[in-house]
Amino acid sequence: MVNQAPSVPATQTVTLTVNGTAVELQLAPWTSLLDALREYMQLTGTKKGCDHGQCGACTVLVNGKRINSCLTLAIMQEGNSITTIEGLAQPEGLLPIQQAFIDHDAFQCGYCTPGQICSAVGLMNEGHAKTTDDIRELMSGNICRCGAYTNIVDAIQAVMHPQPDKL
Ligand code: FES
Ligand code: FES
Repeated sequence: MVNQAPSVPATQTVTLTVNGTAVELQLAPWTSLLDALREYMQLTGTKKGCDHGQCGACTVLVNGKRINSCLTLAIMQEGNSITTIEGLAQPEGLLPIQQAFIDHDAFQCGYCTPGQICSAVGLMNEGHAKTTDDIRELMSGNICRCGAYTNIVDAIQAVMHPQPDKL
C-alpha cells in the first residue's frame, strides 16, 4: 500500500480587511500577505525588496503595528485591520509624516519610501522613540539603498519633535 500525502486545497477563501475594506480572495494557503496585496489586490505601493524580512520595503500596519508583510501569511491576517501606504492619506490630505518626507527630501528613488513611512507611523504609535538615536535604532529595519537615512530621520523628527535641535 502506498502512503499518500494529505491533500491540500489549491486555494481557499481568505477575507482580508485592507484600508477599511473587506475583500474576499481565493489564495493558496502559503500566499504571503505581501503577495496577496501586490498580486491579488493590485496594491503595489507595498514593495518587495528581499522577500526575506531583511529590508523593510514591505512594511505595512496590522492593527496599527508595523510588520514585514513578506513574513506573514495572508491567511493569518484574517480578522485584522491592515493598512498599506495607499490607505494612510486622509480625504483632507497627506498625513504629517507623508508631508514631512516631501519637505525633508527623505527619498530619492522612492522604492523604500512606502515601507519607511508605514514604519515611521508604527514607530510613532509605539511611543518608544524619545531621541534621534532612538529613531535611528527603531527605524534600522528599513533599509534605504539610496542612503537617504539622514533626511528620513529629519522627517520623523520634524513630526515627533517640532524643535529637534532641543533634543
Ligand atoms: S521584502 Fe519584506 S523585509 Fe524585504
Ligand atoms: S529612496 Fe531609494 S531605496 Fe530609499
